[in-house]
Amino acid sequence: MAQVLVTGCAGFIGSSLAEALLRRGDAVRGLDNFETGRPENLEAVREAARLSGAAFSFHPADLRDAAAVAEACQGVEVIFHQAALPSVPRSIRDPRTSHTANIDGTFNLLEGARAAGVRRVVYAASSSAYGNQPGFPRVESMTPMPIAPYPVQKLAGELYMRSYWQVYGLETVALRYFNIFGPRQVPDSPYSGVMARWILQMMAAERPTIFGNGEQGRDFTFVANAVAANLLAAAAPADRVAGRVFNVACGERHTLNETFAVLARLLRFRGTPVYTGERAGDIQNSLADIAAAREAFGYQPEVSFEQGLRETVAWYQARYAVRA
Ligand code: UD1
Repeated sequence: MAQVLVTGCAGFIGSSLAEALLRRGDAVRGLDNFETGRPENLEAVREAARLSGAAFSFHPADLRDAAAVAEACQGVEVIFHQAALPSVPRSIRDPRTSHTANIDGTFNLLEGARAAGVRRVVYAASSSAYGNQPGFPRVESMTPMPIAPYPVQKLAGELYMRSYWQVYGLETVALRYFNIFGPRQVPDSPYSGVMARWILQMMAAERPTIFGNGEQGRDFTFVANAVAANLLAAAAPADRVAGRVFNVACGERHTLNETFAVLARLLRFRGTPVYTGERAGDIQNSLADIAAAREAFGYQPEVSFEQGLRETVAWYQARYAVRA
């Protein structure tokens, strides 16, 4: 089977993807700097390798280290580029650190891939690139209007991907993720995604915060759907995907108030949220048109919002039970 490289392999999405690749027999090389990734996620990846018999190796490296990245690309056929320093608020507080991780890191990876003759790079792009422009659902042909530094950085990565296809013939595919959630999302950082954060807070009987009036909506997408999209995009013929951008979502919008109510029901949380001012750099709404990914590589969401929430809640309950 193919030798693949997963950047961000110790992270929430990267580790889930690495497990899926190993289960189907690919040889996986992982790269992570543990800035947001966690060693325990790698244990799950190693266990998947043990069960399937597929090869797994790990490079503890930072994407800002061009030489280490170039070395990690040697002998690789397909790269899944999941590593990033996420979070809109983090990028507003410290734009330089996110910039170097997300833009320089992505550039180093593309240069490493080009030098090593890698065939394809599948890139984790962000729906935040759409910004607050009018028009729903979001279609890939819309002009991006990023607001905060983080979406600007993720969009720059997309443009670099397309350039490397056009100029060097490296097959690049950008997947614009829409609010991916699920097991292993970091729940206890000030920059945590809303789902993981609220689940942990409700388990600890703390009142979660809603920024704004809670009527902002997101196309929340369970992590298994993003993993499936990556596998499909990696396998699709180049003439369908190379140099292109695709939304990866469910095609449904759920408000924060609604999400709060579903989580409270699943966790038997009886408290109310604390409403506070809007968060700087936030977009108001997010809803994807997922026809392009369906037509190009047969993507369709396999796990619904509610099912995904149930699985996510069960995972945090099993893992963080001691805090309840
Ligand atoms: C998320 C991702 C980002 C990705 C983007 C598009 C995270 C941390 N961010 O950004 O990487 O590029 O989706 O897929 O996963 N909120 C609250 N209370 C809280 C925390 C958040 O009300 O305690 C609100 C925010 O103000 C926002 C919404 O929940 O309106 C979602 O926030 P967040 O989970 O941070 O994700 P995005 O900023 O949408």
